[in-house]
Amino acid sequence: MRSFSGRDILSLKEFEREEFFRVFQVADELEPIARDRRNSDLLANKTLVTAFYQPSTRTRLAHEAAMHRLGGHVTGFSDAKMTRAGDWYQESIKDTVKMLEYYGDAIVMRHFQQGAPAEAAKWASVPVINAGDGWGEHPTQVLTDLYTVLHEKGHIDGLTFLCIGDMRMRTMHSISYGLTQFDAEVIYVAPPEMSLTDEFKAELRHYNLRFSEAEHVAQVIHKADVIYMEPVVQPDYTKARQEASADKGLTPENYKITRDLLASKAKSDAIILHSLPRMDELPEDVDKTRHSRYWQEAFNGVVMRMALLALILGAME
Ligand code: CP
Repeated sequence: MRSFSGRDILSLKEFEREEFFRVFQVADELEPIARDRRNSDLLANKTLVTAFYQPSTRTRLAHEAAMHRLGGHVTGFSDAKMTRAGDWYQESIKDTVKMLEYYGDAIVMRHFQQGAPAEAAKWASVPVINAGDGWGEHPTQVLTDLYTVLHEKGHIDGLTFLCIGDMRMRTMHSISYGLTQFDAEVIYVAPPEMSLTDEFKAELRHYNLRFSEAEHVAQVIHKADVIYMEPVVQPDYTKARQEASADKGLTPENYKITRDLLASKAKSDAIILHSLPRMDELPEDVDKTRHSRYWQEAFNGVVMRMALLALILGAME
């Protein structure tokens, strides 16, 4: 297996099957620290630099929390407008990263441009983590999600995933790449204007992923072991920031998971994952059903970032 030490985490297309299990194993080893709400000293001499060019609640704070749980330090920015990259200068990724690499030992970057973290990795002498790039990928979120599935179902092989929402979303790309390494089947349900591109479908076929598409969740939910959701009502992820409009619109029934639908058509043991934030596609009254696992997913988000940081900073080899 390739070493994780010093490695960038940019895409799940690069991940091999045994590497998923190595990351899950390290997450299991570190999980008690987070569960017991302790801090350790595993990364006591390391600093993480956060470079967030787009809003985030979970991804940035989960990385920061992970670093604190491992005794490390954090510096960085969550609003690029207050840096030279976001003001009059519009400083380039290269020039920014050539600074950041001296301020810490790893960089976690979210950006509205697809490929920006990869560009950063080209220039940085320290590992770069992609925390979401435009419509591109969101590898740390999906590693969290697959880890959650492994824990909740005991295995990933043999499961059918129902992916609902906007297929332009970076999570949908990363989970599709990730599932190529498992004996899993995927059913996608998306509005036509948000469906998988022909180019992406060709890529999935190239990796032998078994997948199909459907128009309405009600037609296929009975097949799903894992219901994996994203909103169809959401901002443009290629923009640095989008203010809320008065009328955001409502989600058509085709892309909603309700208590009634779960009770009447879902498998008794189906689980729901949603990386959040949500809109009306997942009503709050679903939270109290036995199907919801998104709060567990949120906890695992810290554990997974602990595992990734420990691995890429060479603390687990
Ligand atoms: N799931 C996720 O990426 O959430 P944030 O945008 O809050 O980081």
